Amino acid sequence: MANELKVPEHVAIIMDGNGRWAEHRGLARVEGHRAGAEAVEAALDAARKFGVKYLTLYAFSTENWKRSPQEVAALMGLLGDFLDRKLPSMMENDVRLLTTGRTSDLPFPSRSKLLAAIEATSNNRGGTLILALSYGGRAELVDAAKKMAADAAAGKIAPEKIDEKLFASYLYHPEIPDPDLMIRTSGEQRISNFLLWQIAYSELYVTPVLWPDFDEEEFGRAIKSYQNRDRRFGGRKK
Ligand code: IPE
Ligand code: IPE
Ligand code: MG
Repeated sequence: MANELKVPEHVAIIMDGNGRWAEHRGLARVEGHRAGAEAVEAALDAARKFGVKYLTLYAFSTENWKRSPQEVAALMGLLGDFLDRKLPSMMENDVRLLTTGRTSDLPFPSRSKLLAAIEATSNNRGGTLILALSYGGRAELVDAAKKMAADAAAGKIAPEKIDEKLFASYLYHPEIPDPDLMIRTSGEQRISNFLLWQIAYSELYVTPVLWPDFDEEEFGRAIKSYQNRDRRFGGRKK
């Protein structure tokens, strides 16, 4: 049995291809990121329209710090601009903003804008936008292991009591359900260190569309594809 008309509750997107989009137009990479930020706004509106409750966007990975200082600075600047521009409509549409990742690595003023937007939207309940910033799946698992080891050393947890549920409670956002659907744009068929724990049973959708060209129509195609999947979670109906 497929998912029929079930809308995925949580969609996670690896927003890839900004650089190539710019290259194809003879533009600087940063122009691709600027266009990518506009696509983020469109994706947010589309998710709300489709009834997706949680949208997690991979905006900057722990590995992306290896890019040129100019590109990193441009991305951080775009994050600040995005927050300035979007905060009023997040309030209006009752959208809560969260981040996942080692966000304390982010430079000011982007980081202070981020913290202010998280605080301002903390009581909104219409939907949740989670920006993955300085996020790495392995970093998240290491951070969880560190906290767990500290609790074990302090006698707060017994090592033999560690199970999947307890482990998951040490991740960055244990309260958020795992993604039902994971989308990657630009055709690359890899995970690039995104949500390694949480995507254990997510449905994958890879599209050749470059992120700046990702629109409501393509988002709709991803959801339709999801609705035709048969999610078995390793089980079998009798
Ligand atoms: C995705 O686009 C944005 C980030 C990773 C921040 P890229 O910048 O990776 O674009 P390509 O992959 O070079 O085309
Ligand atoms: C993944 O894209 C990270 C984000 C979308 C933020 P990358 O462009 O960094 O990934 P690789 O290098 O193609 O694996
Ligand atoms: Mg890329």
